[in-house]
Amino acid sequence: MVNAGGLVDQRKDIMKIKHANVKVRYVKKPIKKSNKKTKDPRLLQKLFDSCREAFKGPGTVPADSDVNKLCSILDKMIPKHVGLSKNMHFFKSKSAVKGTPRVAYTAIYQCHEFSICIFFLPANAVIPLHNHPGMTVFSKLLVGKLHIKSYDWVDHPNSQHPMAMPPSSQRKNPYFLPDVDTIRSCIHIVLLVSVRLARLKADGVIKAPCETSVLYPTTGGNIHEFRAITPCAVLDVLGPPYSKEDDRDCSYYKDLPVLHGVNEEDDLRWLEENQAPENSEMDRIEYLGPQLIESTLL
Ligand SMILES: [Fe+2]
Repeated sequence: MVNAGGLVDQRKDIMKIKHANVKVRYVKKPIKKSNKKTKDPRLLQKLFDSCREAFKGPGTVPADSDVNKLCSILDKMIPKHVGLSKNMHFFKSKSAVKGTPRVAYTAIYQCHEFSICIFFLPANAVIPLHNHPGMTVFSKLLVGKLHIKSYDWVDHPNSQHPMAMPPSSQRKNPYFLPDVDTIRSCIHIVLLVSVRLARLKADGVIKAPCETSVLYPTTGGNIHEFRAITPCAVLDVLGPPYSKEDDRDCSYYKDLPVLHGVNEEDDLRWLEENQAPENSEMDRIEYLGPQLIESTLL
């Protein structure tokens, strides 16, 4: 794990993210005023207020006008708006990391309709390929250089596997006996039972400062993977949040090599559902950046 530390001025306090027991965390420090001013210090509050208007709960997607509004706020957000600084040691560290670098996250706010959080990825850390069932997610890279790969499901009727069943005429025949090729196909299918066809949506590198990216329940790259090239901080807004109770648990996938018969130029891949990989575990840290005011007037 790399060191993390640095000085950030926020509100009347001064905040620090510091390496402590190999974990990233905010540390409250004595009050010290800064000469530098944030352009709009209440941008996080504006984001929160707009989220309350935009997210209507499970089964809904924000209106286009709300999506545009959230994007315009997030586009303007910089590390200071959430109590961070790109000059912190965590983001400047180039020291080698033994083993798999661990991702940390901090929850700024969570309710039934949406959540706001920040992910901290040391260099070479990976948030493995995962989905966002029924969710709309805004991701804003605040600091760092990040490789993003994303997919959307291909929603044709047999997207589970085109060889999953024999022709319907054969299925109706009670005396149908599968030939050797069909048996071979069935064995193949058993091995591929948890795969599903997806189309590559994005595969590239972004660098802060950059625009906000948005994914939707069925478009925009709902299944994605983050690989940190340099230490990164990603501000995420998710609506609705993950929920096991509401059948919106996170699933993890592995993208398989292109199989015979699938044209690589079509950007199609088989995604195999996996158990949560080891590097999907994250350290939770306390959020001590600017606080939100929950108004009841909305
Ligand atoms: Fe994600």
